[in-house]
Amino acid sequence: MKSTQSIGSHLVAEHNLQTVMGKRKWSFCSMAGICFVAFIFVNLGIWWLGPSWRAASYTRDLPPELLSHESVMLTSDSTPANPRDSNCTFHNFTCLEVYHCGYDDKSVISVYIYPIQQYYDEHGVDITPPMTREFQEILRTISQSPFYSKDPERACLFIPSVDLLNQHWIRPAQVSKILASLKWWNSGKNHLLFNMLPGTAPDFVNYLGVNTDKAMVAGGGFSSITYRRTFDVSIPVYNPLLEGVELPAKSHLEDRKWLLISSQFGLNVVYKAELQSVVAKDNKVFLLDRCKGTPLNYSVRCDQLGQEHLYPNILQDATFCLVIRGNRLGQPTLMDVMMAGCIPVVVADGYLMPFHEVLDWTRASIHLKEQHLPDVLDVLNKYSPERIQDMRRQVYYYWQRYFKSLSDMTLATLQIVNDRIFPFHARSYDQWNELLNRKAVKNPLFLPLRAPKSLGFTAVILTYDRVDSLFQVVRQVGKVPSLSKIIVVWNNQEVAPPPMSQWPNTGKPIKVITTKFNRLSNRFFPYDEIETECILALDDDIVMLTPDEMEFGYEVWREHPDRLVGYPSRLHLWQNSTQSYSYESEWMNAISMVLTGAAFHHKYFSFMYTYSMPGNLKQWVDKHINCEDIAMNFLVTNVTGKAPIKVVPRKKFKCPECVKEMLSADMSHMVERSECINHFVELYGAMPLKPVEFRCDPVLYKDKLPGVLKKFKDLGVL
Ligand SMILES: *[C@@H]1O[C@H](CO)[C@@H](O)[C@H](O)[C@H]1NC(C)=O
Ligand SMILES: *[C@@H]1O[C@H](CO)[C@@H](O)[C@H](O)[C@H]1NC(C)=O
Ligand SMILES: *[C@@H]1O[C@H](CO)[C@@H](O)[C@H](O)[C@H]1NC(C)=O
Ligand SMILES: *[C@@H]1O[C@H](CO)[C@@H](O)[C@H](O)[C@H]1NC(C)=O
Ligand SMILES: *[C@@H]1O[C@H](CO)[C@@H](O)[C@H](O)[C@H]1NC(C)=O
Repeated sequence: MKSTQSIGSHLVAEHNLQTVMGKRKWSFCSMAGICFVAFIFVNLGIWWLGPSWRAASYTRDLPPELLSHESVMLTSDSTPANPRDSNCTFHNFTCLEVYHCGYDDKSVISVYIYPIQQYYDEHGVDITPPMTREFQEILRTISQSPFYSKDPERACLFIPSVDLLNQHWIRPAQVSKILASLKWWNSGKNHLLFNMLPGTAPDFVNYLGVNTDKAMVAGGGFSSITYRRTFDVSIPVYNPLLEGVELPAKSHLEDRKWLLISSQFGLNVVYKAELQSVVAKDNKVFLLDRCKGTPLNYSVRCDQLGQEHLYPNILQDATFCLVIRGNRLGQPTLMDVMMAGCIPVVVADGYLMPFHEVLDWTRASIHLKEQHLPDVLDVLNKYSPERIQDMRRQVYYYWQRYFKSLSDMTLATLQIVNDRIFPFHARSYDQWNELLNRKAVKNPLFLPLRAPKSLGFTAVILTYDRVDSLFQVVRQVGKVPSLSKIIVVWNNQEVAPPPMSQWPNTGKPIKVITTKFNRLSNRFFPYDEIETECILALDDDIVMLTPDEMEFGYEVWREHPDRLVGYPSRLHLWQNSTQSYSYESEWMNAISMVLTGAAFHHKYFSFMYTYSMPGNLKQWVDKHINCEDIAMNFLVTNVTGKAPIKVVPRKKFKCPECVKEMLSADMSHMVERSECINHFVELYGAMPLKPVEFRCDPVLYKDKLPGVLKKFKDLGVL
């Protein structure tokens, strides 16, 4: 490891002599008329992502297979890697071979890490780029993650053990040779390189300035021009100076003293002047800079009167915090600001925010064009206190989940690549963005946007002994064009079903299944005889639905195959007086359940109802002979996060709670149903039902047009 040290110290010496002159690369600045010839920066790049001096730390927590300590000689005629291929996209098979990703688990990418090696040139000089503590941490995280694979032959992604985090420590010509010498390099296909500080003085290109060919780059500081969409991953610029810093907990609801703080060192003089004019307009804006006359200390900032403030603690006193571009677009200040729960105001034209592909930054940051910096107050003053509270909470949440450690960042990066490669298993928007304590649901169904019509649906009719009305229901549903089969679940063990000759002839297959026990759950058993995805559950007394209404219901289900689509609807309401939920069947303006005496659902939910309902819910329903429909509504809404859909107008359904004559029976029924809801909420640990205020009717419904023009005319009739 001695040679590592010598390269490192050499670079430190070289760097300390250098005054970094930055030249603005972004063409936009000339339009804005605020272009500068050159400006002097304290280059924060020296401060972090520098080489690790502790040789022993190489082995820290890394699996033994990574510690080969082999040495490789690269001569002056070793071939370097080709230049970065700016045409790479995810969908371009010349850059990424996705079929290497499905060997084992078809939902998780397997990631191979090359063993750590030393590279020498022909004169025996060590040319290995020094390894930072941060890069070791990234390797360690990957090697302990579910993505890690020891088998290069079956790997989807390859991670070279070459530290490219800080371009300042890299010699591009040598690194290109190292990359090209990797055993599975293959033009860089399926390789992922990590870089946080791209570019070097004087021009600071905002991508890793190394010949990386077709390798993907997880980089901090991409601009919308250099970022290869769907291919690279934009990651944060990690700030190791925050390690060990603890900030006191602060509620997102608390008001803060300052509206806006600017705390970056070495800001461009033009920005500084602009900020001075902003301060002059509003005394709730606070400018901080390095303290003059003392050595540079990251944890101390001075205000304009020279008073010292502890950093980043001071950021906790501000609602908004500026994150302004420096030489590089990506600024580590973003991390400081997020840690303090301060809403970042990002002023860096073209900058792609970290993990922007999955994180909804509009909920957690404000973006301002560089030319609009003088107008920052006009923008900030437009945000309502409620919006500010939401944003603050979201900022802190992102920090906690994706930013606070290198390991969180690394896993988020791999998860993004994983989401691209296995889109069916990708995390949803909610899973990435919703606070954990809010329910994030992931719809388990990967159904077409619109289910094909040709398959039709299976009517599953639950019956006990009401043969007359059963036959009437069979006759009605038999007329529905999309019906494919009728299954009658005969729940009466005492009496055999009537012989087939007595059943109405509908021209559609009828299958009678006699059950062993009279249980409500039999209606949701996923019988093999059900060959369609779509099931219409029917009670044997639902004689009032017309074929048009059923066909229309099926059309609605096809557009929403992951939802319950039904006719009579109900609502749950929270009763403040009893601190519990009640069940409502009255004429309300919202619904949160449909009755499964007449409702379409996907067969998958019959499987779930039968095999994976929480606790003893299924047995509970069978024992109480009630509420199987409420249980189904809980199940579907909980699993998909989507409310059921009510179709066609309310009509008189024959059901206990509609029989107003039997008022007392009615009352006790409602009480029992309310009890079901409260019991299920307990089992689920939360209320999954969601009220919605719409229902579906056919397009021409209620339009004053002759019936022949309407596709579904027989609707709402009693
Ligand atoms: C990228 O595409 C452009 C235009 O299609 C082409 O001119 C260029 O040669 C391509 N670059 C590479 C590296 O293939
Ligand atoms: C894929 O990338 C190659 C360069 O690597 C480029 O020449 C080709 O045009 C790209 N194809 C598509 C479909 O973008
Ligand atoms: C920086 O300032 C903090 C707070 O005043 C102090 O605790 C720390 O020792 C200082 N660090 C250096 C390197 O001077
Ligand atoms: C409800 O849905 C959530 C999110 O999909 C899931 O984690 C949970 O297990 C479900 N609850 C039950 C009781 O099925
Ligand atoms: C609900 O009841 C609690 C006391 O049980 C009361 O403090 C609160 O104001 C009530 N809320 C509403 C909206 O009525």
